Amino acid sequence: MKRIGVLTSGGDSPGMNAAVRAVVRTGIYHGLEVFGIERGYQGLIEGKIALLPARSVGGIINRGGTILRSARCKAFYEAEGRAAAAKQLEERGIEGLVVIGGDGSYQGAQKLYDEHGIRCVGLPGTIDNDIGGTDFTIGYDTALNIAMEAVDRIRDTAQSHDRLFFIEVMGRHSGYLAMMTGIAGGAEEILVPETPTDIQKLIDHLVKGREKGKTSSIVVVAEGDDAGHAIDVAARVSELSDFKDSRVVVIGHLQRGGSPTAFDRILASRLGLRAVEALLEGETGKMAGISGNNVVLRPLSEAWECRTQFDPSFLRVAHVLST
Ligand code: ADP
Ligand code: F6P
Repeated sequence: MKRIGVLTSGGDSPGMNAAVRAVVRTGIYHGLEVFGIERGYQGLIEGKIALLPARSVGGIINRGGTILRSARCKAFYEAEGRAAAAKQLEERGIEGLVVIGGDGSYQGAQKLYDEHGIRCVGLPGTIDNDIGGTDFTIGYDTALNIAMEAVDRIRDTAQSHDRLFFIEVMGRHSGYLAMMTGIAGGAEEILVPETPTDIQKLIDHLVKGREKGKTSSIVVVAEGDDAGHAIDVAARVSELSDFKDSRVVVIGHLQRGGSPTAFDRILASRLGLRAVEALLEGETGKMAGISGNNVVLRPLSEAWECRTQFDPSFLRVAHVLST
């Protein structure tokens, strides 16, 4: 193998640049030419592919977003789209691909190998931390710290005005980020898509807190909660209780930007190195992940077949400690 490509796909996450840097520098260290592909599979189909020299990834380890840019690409769901992508790689003699993204991107990568023999290794890049086969995904720690800081700031004003706040944290399908934000921020309650939300129980918990002397409260709501968005939950609570004057904050995409934490930079660097060396060892259909602080290679399919198990004991931590 003489040439490999690297792309970032799906939602961006802080630390993707550190991963790109690790892939490029490791490739060059081993005598490979490393090509950067713009805008994920979309750029691959369109042939937006350029050689990345070692210096092209200088000064990016600390930058959020992705210098390669990212995209969601409809055409890649179709066999013709993937054939066009494979052709672009074959024309340039690129035999291996590092795909930085989530489980959707991996499903595409697996098909690219099955149909066209392009060797693919994945790196887990998403703030959701919902990918099977790795304890942590690149970007999750940064997003968690941003969301926690937001909760801290809101708590200041909540306490000053004796207010109830509903804070919405990202996670359409996964409540992991919301759950950890709630624990780290000392939230009174955390609502996640993995467990059914009972508005009356939530109100009872808030009332109990008030009876015990709490003058303000924070409820963290995952974007994808079954009771709806934070604004909907606030409306229901207001309808059914005397908590009429709450406030709602949606942290939104603020969580996806900004300089990655040391944890994410180190994770991205370790996994990026492993991904390239895995390709050189002839591996394909694998993801470089972290398990108990060891770098591991796991089948890509684990990412979508064994999504990170939701552990309700974390919710109990928040519930018990907020009483
Ligand atoms: P993530 O990788 O973060 O899970 P998506 O699910 O949006 O994000 O997937 C990113 C891209 O990967 C999609 O826009 C599409 O191009 C490709 N992709 C996702 N799922 C598949 C699939 N089942 N088959 C082929 N390509 C896929
Ligand atoms: O998967 C990452 C993520 O940020 C989710 O937490 C969120 O639900 C989704 O992407 C938002 O996607 P978009 O950037 O398309 O609004």
